[in-house]
Amino acid sequence: MDTLRIVGGRELRGRIVTPGAKNSCLKLLAMSIMASDECVISNVPQVTDVDTMCKLLEALGAKVSNTGPGEVRVDPTTIVSADPPDPLVRKMRASVQVLGPLLARFGEVKMPFPGGCAIGSRPIDLHLRGLSAMGAQVSEEHGYIIVRAPRLVGAEIHLDFPSVGATENLMAAACLASGTTIIRNAAREPEIVDEQNFLVRLGADIRGAGTDTIKVTGVKSLGSTNYSVMPDRIQAGTYMIAAAATRGDVTVTGVVPEHLDALAAKLAETGAAVICSEDSVRVAMGDRPVPIAVKSMPYPGFPTDLQAPIAAYLTVCRGTSTITENIFSNRFRYVDELARMGAHVGVDGRTAIIRGVNELTGARVVAPDLRAGAALVIAGLMARGETTLDGTAHILRGYDDVHGKLASCGGDVELVSDSASAAAAE
Ligand code: EPZ
Repeated sequence: MDTLRIVGGRELRGRIVTPGAKNSCLKLLAMSIMASDECVISNVPQVTDVDTMCKLLEALGAKVSNTGPGEVRVDPTTIVSADPPDPLVRKMRASVQVLGPLLARFGEVKMPFPGGCAIGSRPIDLHLRGLSAMGAQVSEEHGYIIVRAPRLVGAEIHLDFPSVGATENLMAAACLASGTTIIRNAAREPEIVDEQNFLVRLGADIRGAGTDTIKVTGVKSLGSTNYSVMPDRIQAGTYMIAAAATRGDVTVTGVVPEHLDALAAKLAETGAAVICSEDSVRVAMGDRPVPIAVKSMPYPGFPTDLQAPIAAYLTVCRGTSTITENIFSNRFRYVDELARMGAHVGVDGRTAIIRGVNELTGARVVAPDLRAGAALVIAGLMARGETTLDGTAHILRGYDDVHGKLASCGGDVELVSDSASAAAAE
């Protein structure tokens, strides 16, 4: 149980390089199950969710090796089992992304319901209904989902909501189905485009990712490929917010600026200077933010994964800001922790109302989930005095060397391992 120790009040200044996107990399690893030979995936972020996915693939029988910094080699030809094991599946919601690829390859999958961050009810009905439309039989027995389809058949699928995970699972499953699948009201997130590019490199016939209609024509088999993961727009966005929150000046490099348009517009509304170049975004801020209203929406709207981080920044706005969460039902679990640091945030249904205070003060707080943890890091950087943040395991699921990156820009941030704190106490 490591903690982050943050002494606030220092402006962040410098450059931060963006790693590969966890939320694409996890799916590329899962999709490599369908390859007929070794895949080499590069620009892989060093986050614990990726380790969990690699362990899951190994548990199925794949050979997975780290072949260099940020490079993972997956040999799926040795996979023998289509029953992902309980503890790994419960550990991470994204483990459900092996469902479509395993079904396409083996015709039958048995897996427990997935776990993940506690950010509200997270059913998988859209994944299962889509697979049923493609001819799969779905049943539930003793907490397990069993999906059988000796041969998936292309179908027209209309998603009730543009679910990222359902779009990805159905797109993957359709690659080896007979005939053509059309997914309407598909998610348009950039990660879906990255996955389409990966699958096309494997030999799949897919068009339309990035729009709300994706067309997949099944092929007999897929090949293998080398592929570099797209940049992580959520990590990049978190550092952009941290720059504004500390009234600093940071250039986040290695990004696709267009992926960050919704955030850039909101930061500019608060009074920050946001300068985009070809593959970087510079954010500079010298004052308390002007109050704004933020509503999370599917891409290209404001990302739900940056809702908590921007809320932390707005705790010191000059007036009242509102944040409306439209994607998940329980994504305000950071509010009580921010209150310990002196923030005034009330929640009314799906909306958090933030009455700006002059400053936050350091406190001992706990990260309740991944992005809430990122929000508390930002709050700690802004606060007067020292903040001790427990629950860092959540943060390390999705942020690559967060303390090192912040420290390189002048932040006073340290990851204190459990053994170090025990020794200090003796
Ligand atoms: C992905 O989750 C991301 N996770 C999330 O990031 C992200 O917040 C989310 O997309 C939205 O952008 C990964 O990529 C691993 P959804 P996913 O299916 O695919 C409901 C992070 O912090 N829904 O688009 O699970 C669901 O309950 C994580 O990195 C159904 O009702 O999101 C939610 O309210 C957290 N039935 C909404 O749709 C379904 O079958 C959006 O979920 C599926 C989803």
